[in-house]
Amino acid sequence: MRRGRFLTLEGAEGAGKSTTLAHAATVLREAGLEVDVTREPGGTGRAEAIREILLERGDESMTDLAELLLMFAGRSLHLENRIRPALAAGRWVLCDRFTDATWAYQGGGRGLPETWIGQLESWTQDGLQPDLTLLLDLDPEVGLARIKGRGVPDRFETERLAFFHRVRETYLRRAHADPARFRVIDASATQESVRSEVSRHIKEFIQSID
Ligand code: TMP
Repeated sequence: MRRGRFLTLEGAEGAGKSTTLAHAATVLREAGLEVDVTREPGGTGRAEAIREILLERGDESMTDLAELLLMFAGRSLHLENRIRPALAAGRWVLCDRFTDATWAYQGGGRGLPETWIGQLESWTQDGLQPDLTLLLDLDPEVGLARIKGRGVPDRFETERLAFFHRVRETYLRRAHADPARFRVIDASATQESVRSEVSRHIKEFIQSID
């Protein structure tokens, strides 16, 4: 059986990731593919419990190292219990964020050493990388204005603007370094235009592997 493909969606807060994820899933299913839609942090029972720890603001301060290790702990559970089995069974996996987010948030945002992230990535993923990554790019000022008033902000959403500028720069740097995997989409455009770009990139990708 042919291995399924692993697609990821990345982007800043307020970039319209949820709407785009649903649209991407529809495009894939309309192409006749069986798709498992999932997310990180999270995606399995234990990994969702880790997500809660990561997002809650709580009283006890979170260390940057604990944050990094928890991201990869959740990822290990998600990969072994859900992503790899789905791909092996020929299903496609569409994941809302993956390790590019760790490079962007824990590397760029928090300033943790890239060597640590690279080491954890290779232990956890053993060479597995997304086949295609859609990056919704947006000026953080616009993104944060969009999410304002959407309820109680989580631990990441309370970060300062400079943090999100570093996140964005890291995402863009990674996208430029790996144009074969990344497609950068301007998330400041109209919803209609974002949707059509997403459709185009996904259809082109499907054709490229046929
Ligand atoms: P979400 O907004 O996509 O639900 O993700 C929750 C937060 O987790 C978001 O602010 C980004 C953050 N995050 C990281 O910091 N590192 C990671 O590796 C992942 C997957 C998410």
